[in-house]
Amino acid sequence: SDRINIAIDGPAGAGKSTVARMVAGQLGYVYIDTGAMYRAVTLSAQRLAIAFEQESALSELLSGLRIKLEPGPNGQSIFVNGEDVTQEIRSREVTRQVSYFAASGVVRGVLSAMQREMAARKGVVMDGRDIGTHVLPDAELKVFLTASVKERAARRFKELPADQAISLEQLEKEIAERDALDEQRDISPLLKAHDAIELDSSYMTIEEVVASIVKLSRTKL
Ligand code: C5P
Repeated sequence: SDRINIAIDGPAGAGKSTVARMVAGQLGYVYIDTGAMYRAVTLSAQRLAIAFEQESALSELLSGLRIKLEPGPNGQSIFVNGEDVTQEIRSREVTRQVSYFAASGVVRGVLSAMQREMAARKGVVMDGRDIGTHVLPDAELKVFLTASVKERAARRFKELPADQAISLEQLEKEIAERDALDEQRDISPLLKAHDAIELDSSYMTIEEVVASIVKLSRTKL
């Protein structure tokens, strides 16, 4: 076939979204940031003061949410019921709570179904935590992208908006906590798929990571 699906999973801050966006650009594929979808649900719940344990309130919320991903000025823009929430989903409040909402079966069920639908026609590069293991187990190419916690925290630190004062140490701690929550949850935890290719980006440039994934993708056509 002439188009494949590519799953890129890994812990927070490994560079998945940058890499996935660039791979999609080079292949003419559609990039889908599934983390942004979990963040959008988290933001929407927070605005209505719905907690992650409130299953029925969450399912009602989810049934009324239309989530749209579109190419935007800074990579990808995300809209919830027509409102552009691209900036707001990156807030510290959302970042600190998203892994709790992402552990909810109600939330995961709805979002994974949406993600499968988005990939049905092939030609997508999807990044997340459970894409290769759960959402697209038949993806032709699966990459598990990692880097040391220190390196990941340092990268995130450089990208922080100026108004979000947080030390590098605090950031390291929060990243490690989010990894632990994502790895230890019962439903679709962060896990390398048995057939995923692991890339440690600690000592690679973004360009090198992108080039190796693009090259791997050609072997799958
Ligand atoms: O990729 P990002 O760091 O924006 O993802 C935010 C959070 O969303 C992750 O820490 C994880 O809890 C959740 N997530 C998930 N499954 C995905 C993508 C993200 O559980 N496929």
